[in-house]
Amino acid sequence: MADAGTASAILATEGLTRRFGGLVAVRDVSLTLNRGELHAVIGPNGAGKTTLVGLLAGELRPSAGRIVLDGADIGGVPAWKRTHLGIGRSFQRTNIFPTLPALENVRLAAQAVARGANLLRPAASDTKLVETAQAALARVGLSGVAARVAGTLSNGEQRQLEIAMTLAAHPKVLLLDEPLAGMGPEEGQRLTGLLKDLVREHAILLIEHDMDFVFAVADRMTVMAEGTVLAQGRPDDIRANREVQDAYLGGHA
Ligand SMILES: Nc1ncnc2c1ncn2[C@@H]1O[C@H](COP(=O)(O)OP(=O)(O)OP(=O)(O)O)[C@@H](O)[C@H]1O
Ligand SMILES: [Mg+2]
Repeated sequence: MADAGTASAILATEGLTRRFGGLVAVRDVSLTLNRGELHAVIGPNGAGKTTLVGLLAGELRPSAGRIVLDGADIGGVPAWKRTHLGIGRSFQRTNIFPTLPALENVRLAAQAVARGANLLRPAASDTKLVETAQAALARVGLSGVAARVAGTLSNGEQRQLEIAMTLAAHPKVLLLDEPLAGMGPEEGQRLTGLLKDLVREHAILLIEHDMDFVFAVADRMTVMAEGTVLAQGRPDDIRANREVQDAYLGGHA
């Protein structure tokens, strides 16, 4: 009931489809991401989750269907421009510069999207970018390791760093592809808290295999299998859905 008309959509897909040759990796997927909401996309390996994120981020072109951000069709907009429009994305595999300090990683991410930044000026002296980077690091709880070389951080800290790099672009929407990968239970707890906090300012589309984590943080869920949407709804509805139980959830239902 609460889904109908009351919530406001920030990002939506309609009939989104992506073929790779004969394989339909994403088939006729329609979903809505609402402001202030964490929407989890779950499904078995090869279900098309990362392909969906690639389509939303603009790394992949749709074969058919629409992607609407804030009411505007962005299906033909290139990835770098989508970053400016407010789509932030983290990767299934960590995507940091391991030999650079944590702060420098975030500062470079901020620089990459800074409009009107003077690229000829020595970047490190650009206090605004450094401040943006410091704020993003603080947001994910990494201020204490700002000077550490990123490759020496724990797996969990590296994933948090990647989220900070995404935040430096001031996204409206965060696309997180398996942010829990490689994290221990304690780091997972911290990430749960962080996402619950972040979602108040940024709508989040989360891809994740860890069902305890997903059910702890999701407001709504889409279940995918073989490229198609199997079910959509609130976590309780998904848990109770027989088809989903059979196809995917097993012991978590
Ligand atoms: N660039 C590509 N070229 C050809 N096939 C691809 C490409 N990218 C993905 N696929 C195929 O599309 C299907 C969906 O892949 P995708 O990576 O989106 O799944 P996923 O749900 O993210 O899986 P996982 O949970 O393992 O990350 C798979 O069969 C995959 O092999
Ligand atoms: Mg994937």
